Amino acid sequence: MESTSLQTKKTFKFTNSSGKDSLEVTISETMEPHYSQYVWPCSVVLAQYIWHHSKSLFKGKHLLEIGAGTALPSIVATMCASPDSVTITDNEFFPKCFENCRKSIFYNNLGNICDHFNKHNGSNVKRTSKNCPIHLMGLTWGQVSPHFVKLLQKKNTKDHHAFPNVILGSDCFYDETLFEDVISTIYYLLKSSADFEQQSSFKPVFLCTYQTRSADWSISALLHKWKLEYEDIPLSDFAADESDIADSGMPGNHKIEMMKISLKDK
Ligand SMILES: C[S@@+](CC[C@H](N)C(=O)[O-])C[C@H]1O[C@@H](n2cnc3c(N)ncnc32)[C@H](O)[C@@H]1O
Repeated sequence: MESTSLQTKKTFKFTNSSGKDSLEVTISETMEPHYSQYVWPCSVVLAQYIWHHSKSLFKGKHLLEIGAGTALPSIVATMCASPDSVTITDNEFFPKCFENCRKSIFYNNLGNICDHFNKHNGSNVKRTSKNCPIHLMGLTWGQVSPHFVKLLQKKNTKDHHAFPNVILGSDCFYDETLFEDVISTIYYLLKSSADFEQQSSFKPVFLCTYQTRSADWSISALLHKWKLEYEDIPLSDFAADESDIADSGMPGNHKIEMMKISLKDK
């Protein structure tokens, strides 16, 4: 690990089972006690899922990561999974959380960023560039702003946003008081995506990893309330049932789980 003052760089090395294919990713972190400033164990597990399925599941998809923090899954997806667009989002009221993402995009030579800050008046798009695959946007759970919707609804081409068909989220279920805000946001995105692309045979999904912090916590009642269904994805399916993924020392002995959430069929 390299470091200058509070800033550090962490390298993750993903390899396949034969050891022939590999991907090295550098992520910027800041040693501050805010959740968004460093990579959480759930993030490495979700990134491993993306690496494992990079040749099949994400090609041509529009990805959007919620509560991204340092955005390891989005960056891995951009580097190896050929999505059509990647939108990295986090709390719009804490714009500092995007600073590490910008650095990581630069460290991994991923090109230009469309940097939006979707304050409610919709007037302050700070920097845009055409043909950029990565968008940075504020998205606060439970508060999808009209400006956010307007940006997403633009034409479905490589240059523009579209409603995401794959939503990513690592460690977003860490505070029970926020669970319904997360789930209502996911419902809104999945429903909008399904309505927007009615002709598509691909059912929009939310792929999420979470850390078991309390045996009393459960989201199943909320999923039922919001007409969502889920499927558990065993970590052994994608070689993530280990304590050291991508040479990171994570997830260590934390208990991480993964699920795929989608709209209930009528
Ligand atoms: C535990 S961290 C996980 C960060 C990253 N996904 C990871 O796994 O490394 C939770 C993330 O959710 C974001 N967050 C917290 N409250 C939020 C809210 N109300 N709306 C949107 N994002 C929020 C934080 O800024 C932080 O990036």
